[in-house]
Amino acid sequence: MADPDDLTVRELDSLWHPLRQHRGIAANRPAQIISGEGVHLIDREGNRLLDGVAGIWCVNVGYGREELADVAREQMARLPYLPGTFVQAPAARLAGKLTAMLGYEGRVYFTNSGSEANEAAFKIARQYHAQTGSPGRFKIIARYRGYHGNTFGALAATGQAERKMLYEPLAPGFVHVDAPDPYRITHDCVDQLERAIAREGAETVAAFIMEPIIAGGGILVPPDDYLPRVREVCTYHGVLLIVDEVVTGFGRTGISFAHRRAGIEPDLLTLGKGIASGYQPLAAMVARQEIFDAFDGEAGDLRHFRHINTYGGHPVATAVALRNIEIIEREGLIHRVAKTGEALLDRLRRLEKHPHVGQVRGRGLLIGVELVESHASRQPIASDRSAAVVARCARDGVLLGRTANTTPGFDNVVIMAPPFVLSEEEADVLASTLERSIEEELTKGP
Ligand SMILES: Cc1ncc(COP(=O)(O)O)c(C=O)c1O
Repeated sequence: MADPDDLTVRELDSLWHPLRQHRGIAANRPAQIISGEGVHLIDREGNRLLDGVAGIWCVNVGYGREELADVAREQMARLPYLPGTFVQAPAARLAGKLTAMLGYEGRVYFTNSGSEANEAAFKIARQYHAQTGSPGRFKIIARYRGYHGNTFGALAATGQAERKMLYEPLAPGFVHVDAPDPYRITHDCVDQLERAIAREGAETVAAFIMEPIIAGGGILVPPDDYLPRVREVCTYHGVLLIVDEVVTGFGRTGISFAHRRAGIEPDLLTLGKGIASGYQPLAAMVARQEIFDAFDGEAGDLRHFRHINTYGGHPVATAVALRNIEIIEREGLIHRVAKTGEALLDRLRRLEKHPHVGQVRGRGLLIGVELVESHASRQPIASDRSAAVVARCARDGVLLGRTANTTPGFDNVVIMAPPFVLSEEEADVLASTLERSIEEELTKGP
């Protein structure tokens, strides 16, 4: 029987990979991965690579969970598909589970990706205002360095110029302010938000969107009072608060949802990635009950949410997500993230003594190591040098991420976000591989 992993050059050359230049790719192809086990990916040659970024920060329960494969198979055999206009148990149970976990009344709208969850949130914010007496509120304020997805609205909300260049103009009506970055920004970002609302005219602003910790933009952790103060400002000005927990949701920062640490409730919450640990593509948007109530109307009028996606709330994806959350709870994985994350962060902070490590920061298993030319200048290290650090780790069997093509000049934050099941020994491998790589790649000079 033919080897299913045996690929022809034609097959390989038919793939358009994201985020990379293809010139010369034949001599330097991305690894062909054939399976995964725990925190490891196994390539065609049988090498075990420690996946320090859990895919794209999503394979939270780790690879090789037969249990999730069984759930998917059973659901597929019973009912493989149903539009969201009908009722099926997995989607309803998952919606109920999410509102129970969040602890407030709300409604869950399922989508396929985080980008689409944010698109749904933007549309809901605008329609909500239109239906509650403020039809002039259409602007969405977002933050520089934040990422909210690749679709025209979500990318317009994204504050990373290099993700947007050559695709612009994007959706109109998006305005940006700074996000707190205690390493680089000294002004008060909540004051700046409030000034932006005033200058735009509060009566034109529909919503403010933010990640509790900016992930792909460089692991930017705000001060503790930031989110509570943002909540206050939004409430005061009648601006809806959209919290994008596509990365931080379901335990990544050592708590079920990062906004809960601040003790606030978002008006709209977007979730993705870890909801099904990447075993199925699934995302969700949760609206507070009061928002949902504004969509009440007569049959046949236009007050309901007129938005549909073919696969939103897919029965297989929602069944898998439910079991995924059960695994997280059963195995106490969020507690484990908090514990492993703290130990890993403590250890990595020692790297701050290195002349090219400006700051090590993060929460739970979402950690960034900011590389700089020098402590004194804080100038971001050149892109090829941070790339060399990450490439060296990959050669040594550890996959890490890096900000690249986000904010111009800021290709300098190495990112770690491993699966939650990372053991102490594996955390040690992760840390020591990065330490060695920084030492060897950056000490020898540019
Ligand atoms: C914070 C955040 N929001 C939204 C998205 C978009 O999610 P997706 O890639 O599933 O569309 C991402 C993706 O990385 C993200 O990091």
